[in-house]
Amino acid sequence: MDIIRVEGGYSLNGSVQVSGAKNSALKLMAATLLAPGTTVLQNVPNISDVHVMGKVLKRMGATIDVVDEHSLAIDTSQVDSWEAPYDLVAKMRASTAVMGPLLGRFGRAKIAMPGGCNLGARKIDMHILGLEALGVSFDTDHGYIYADAGEGMVGTTVTLEFASVGATENLIMAAVRAKGTTVIDNAAREPEIVDLANMLNDMGAQISGAGTPVVTIEGVEELHPVTHRVVGDRIEAGTFIVAAALMAGDEGVEITGFSTVHLGMVIKKFELMGLNIERIPGGVRVYRAQHIRPMDIQTLPFPGFPTDMQAQAMVLSALADGSSIITENIFENRFMFASELVRMGADIRIEGHHAIIHGVPGFSGAQVSSPDLRGGAALVVAGLIADGRTEVSAIHHIDRGYEHFVEKLVGLGAHVERVSVPDSLDD
Ligand code: UD1
Repeated sequence: MDIIRVEGGYSLNGSVQVSGAKNSALKLMAATLLAPGTTVLQNVPNISDVHVMGKVLKRMGATIDVVDEHSLAIDTSQVDSWEAPYDLVAKMRASTAVMGPLLGRFGRAKIAMPGGCNLGARKIDMHILGLEALGVSFDTDHGYIYADAGEGMVGTTVTLEFASVGATENLIMAAVRAKGTTVIDNAAREPEIVDLANMLNDMGAQISGAGTPVVTIEGVEELHPVTHRVVGDRIEAGTFIVAAALMAGDEGVEITGFSTVHLGMVIKKFELMGLNIERIPGGVRVYRAQHIRPMDIQTLPFPGFPTDMQAQAMVLSALADGSSIITENIFENRFMFASELVRMGADIRIEGHHAIIHGVPGFSGAQVSSPDLRGGAALVVAGLIADGRTEVSAIHHIDRGYEHFVEKLVGLGAHVERVSVPDSLDD
């Protein structure tokens, strides 16, 4: 078992380049199914979620040539299966992103039901309702969802009950091959959706309005392979902004490889909290915050404050000069991180989907466990400023979405290492 060990108190200097966005790369990989032939994706992050999506595509018959660490040539011409098997969907729920492309290309898909979810209840009900409106019929059997587009999908207007990222993406990827016009109303507006639409349009799709609440898709007969560069990871950038705000040396820390427009609300809130963030070409330079002001934050779909930055923001709030409330509106159960931060000395109370945070003067290093991807990264960041040693376990969560996280922090001067420790022994 690997853990990340952090010795707190060392200042950060220099620059770090963020990788391509996980949430974009995964959907772009799925979308290659729509264009038989070899699509080349550049700036792909080398993270475990990307490896899982690679396995999903390979099981269907795709071949993937790793051109270099960040470029994948994905040949989907020989794909002859439309199944996303349970062992892979169970590892990564985003595997369900292949449903739309498979329906678009083959008119059918067999997808393992993501764990803890069932048809008609929550989680992918909006994907299904939307696809049903396009004429897809669904059946479930032995833990699998069978989707069948029969004679073909026909465009229509789909109003999403909530601006779901995954549902918007699956619908776009199906509708590009539907007959006629599909309008997605109350579509999610995340930058990763714009990235997906840009690549699909290069492939020959006709999508307009991506990045707005109304996306219009004119179906086309075929799509062709392209070369596409994955957009920079705004959440990785945000994570490094928090690290720099806590520990930057006099020169500040430069964070590049992303668009500040994609992090607008985060930067605005952080500036209101007293962070010193200077916009530079390709990113930001962040100076150490002299003191952090408390701030109420609520997570919302883009362009609101992202739920994927909630844990990192909580690290800042926990050190603020007063009390803050963070409200989580997107996911239930996303406060598991708080109890780990409390082990490091934070003063946080959870009331439903609100976290009430009273600032403390500092953290003390402790053994903590990553509750999830973003929470895990936030614990490492908290360790940078903590007194003494912090050991973060369950770091497979961090590996899902942060490329070379330890190496990047070490490159900035942090004292962080990945250590193998024996698995705990059962009595
Ligand atoms: C994506 C991102 C994730 C991010 C989230 C919100 C990927 C791989 N993951 O997840 O990092 O935190 O957007 O920005 O891109 N819901 C339903 N029914 C549905 C679909 C969603 O009830 O059919 C609910 C979910 O349970 C959740 C909320 O809607 O509570 C948001 O989900 P959604 O926007 O779809 O997020 P994901 O696409 O799963």
